[in-house]
Amino acid sequence: MRKLLPLIGTNPHGGGRSALTCRFRCGDACFQEVPNTSDNAYVGDVITGVLSRRSALRAAAVVTVASAAGGSVVFGGAAAAEAHPGHGRPPLADGARGLRFAPVAPNTEDRVTVPSGYGQNVVIRWGEPILRGAPAFDSERQTAEAQAGQFGYNNDFLSLLPLRGEHDRQVLVANHEYTDEVLMFRGYDAANPTREQVEIAWAAHGLSVVVVQEERRSGRLTPVRRHPLNRRLHTTSAFELTGPAAGGALVRTSADPKGRTVLGTLNNCAGGTTPWGTTLHGEENFNQYFANGSSATDKRYGVGTGASERKWERFDKRFDLAQEPNEVHRFGWVVELDPYDPESTPRKRTALGRFKHEAAQPRLTADGRPVVYMGDDERFDYFYKFVSSKRMMKGDSRKARAHNLTLLDEGTLYVARLTGDSPAAELDGTGKLPNDGEFDGSGTWIPLATAGPEGAVSHVPGMTAEEVFVFTRLAGDKAGATKMDRPEDVEPSPRTGRVYVALTNNTNRGKGTNPGVDEANPRNLNKHGQVLELAEHWDDPSADGFAWRLFLVAGDPDDPATYFAGYPKDKVSPISCPDNVAFDPHGNLWISTDGNQLGSHDGLFGVAVHGERRGELKQFLTVPRGAETCGPVIQDRRVLVAVQHPGELDGASVENPASVWPDGPGRIVRPSVVAVWRNDGGDIGV
Ligand code: FEO
Ligand code: CA
Ligand code: CA
Ligand code: CA
Repeated sequence: MRKLLPLIGTNPHGGGRSALTCRFRCGDACFQEVPNTSDNAYVGDVITGVLSRRSALRAAAVVTVASAAGGSVVFGGAAAAEAHPGHGRPPLADGARGLRFAPVAPNTEDRVTVPSGYGQNVVIRWGEPILRGAPAFDSERQTAEAQAGQFGYNNDFLSLLPLRGEHDRQVLVANHEYTDEVLMFRGYDAANPTREQVEIAWAAHGLSVVVVQEERRSGRLTPVRRHPLNRRLHTTSAFELTGPAAGGALVRTSADPKGRTVLGTLNNCAGGTTPWGTTLHGEENFNQYFANGSSATDKRYGVGTGASERKWERFDKRFDLAQEPNEVHRFGWVVELDPYDPESTPRKRTALGRFKHEAAQPRLTADGRPVVYMGDDERFDYFYKFVSSKRMMKGDSRKARAHNLTLLDEGTLYVARLTGDSPAAELDGTGKLPNDGEFDGSGTWIPLATAGPEGAVSHVPGMTAEEVFVFTRLAGDKAGATKMDRPEDVEPSPRTGRVYVALTNNTNRGKGTNPGVDEANPRNLNKHGQVLELAEHWDDPSADGFAWRLFLVAGDPDDPATYFAGYPKDKVSPISCPDNVAFDPHGNLWISTDGNQLGSHDGLFGVAVHGERRGELKQFLTVPRGAETCGPVIQDRRVLVAVQHPGELDGASVENPASVWPDGPGRIVRPSVVAVWRNDGGDIGV
């Protein structure tokens, strides 16, 4: 018998998600207890009265706020001038460069809607063959073998990489986060999945690499089938564990007594693209695939004590923790893939810690060391960064590529503690701005452990370094990290170095015995989320202090509990549940959403982060019924989005679809990648 789904309207998930989404994507995470029950205290007004932001703005071109660590952190002079632009000014008709398009209105159409003057094409759908020998997609006769050579299900993160030597081609890398069995298999019986269904699902998870061909006169992209770089990695592909936890007792299993080779990557949500030409892939809600968890650490990661939703444990004992208790320790990492080497084994980088990795996006320090920013997407979990101790080698020589594939194995892992600069009494939980006019303050990067060539050192009393890397959430608890409203994707601005973090929502904030508000998470029962802006110390992202402020407090602009960087709210699009973030070539931030709570479908938005239009947010597209918008890539001539889980609404099935996208009535709904371009061939938004 099918598991009973919660009634519509009783879903506790903050983002307006269907229960079907909760069930298949996160293993009903929001129906479980909040896994972070640590007693980290709020230190909201430790430094109250140090320096009011507004007086600072008047006083100096460079704003300084004291950090909790006692250091000094700045938002640069340009940022200061930008803090409250545009009030009372008539709107400019055309928008910031890169954002000059007529915004799409919120809607519930079962299609991708784009601004007038723009066109689109479906680049690739779930099931399209990309490897030699893979058959054409046939949803009624799907096999695991076919799926292993076809584009996977539920595309999330996307990266487009240059392909030298081949005209008008790029390399597309995609994550396939999870499977929606009821939308994939006619007559799916959740209590009794067949081996074939389970093996198809294994093959539909993971990563795809597929070369795409650009059409010269538009932004249209089409896949190049059977290109030698095309690749599928899924639940039975080999991955190498590297870094400080590799080979340790916590990651050894009966099938892998050396603790160095893992089969599969799971629940790859967002990711990142490195300056040395590799891609990073977060393993997010990995817990849901495992049955019979029993330890305290399983509980902190939300591993259930009974059968799993998909019953994989019936077909491979490694998913049964009663038999293989360490297998779950081999998931929850950041995967690094070299898409240019189809023979390479992707690596799970244990130095970046183990949690529900949403994404991982690097930038470089002034001396060339990568810093990787990472969110742990769970209510009341943490924001992290890893700072490598090694410098990136420039160029594309074999030596440089080999060296750069070691950058993420040595360095220090930190967790963020954010301190507000306004008194706690001014944070009433509604989203009303405090008296200094901003949700802002300073922060400290708390070191958790350092991995070096001679081994790893823990900075957390009572935990070994191996424990810190494998049970990173526990290390964050002990370090007193700030409990955030679900840190999702993160993106450093290539122009200013400031880092933008999507905090998608947290309807448990302030509810019952859960933590109440702090200045970085200032709304109780937070339905719509916020976007955090973070500036590192003197532009040295390896320093331990930073400044932060909320750039957006999302929602309906008519709602007083919203904030758009001070931009006039009658000139912006409504936005709810920010998830993925990316920058365009002009330095504008683009934000995709997941779980809109304002009655519209999810979508993609562009917003200026500097200049007079800072905070002017405009909606660029919406996605079909039941879908979230993922993986945005913004290039000069195209916008690429992943339309994930279209038709994923309660009660939907193959027989009773909630969406007919992309191929119309009578055809199975298929998660797909979409390219959008300007009909006249011009650049996006100029
Ligand atoms: Fe898979 Fe955090 O979204
Ligand atoms: Ca403040
Ligand atoms: Ca996401
Ligand atoms: Ca999401």
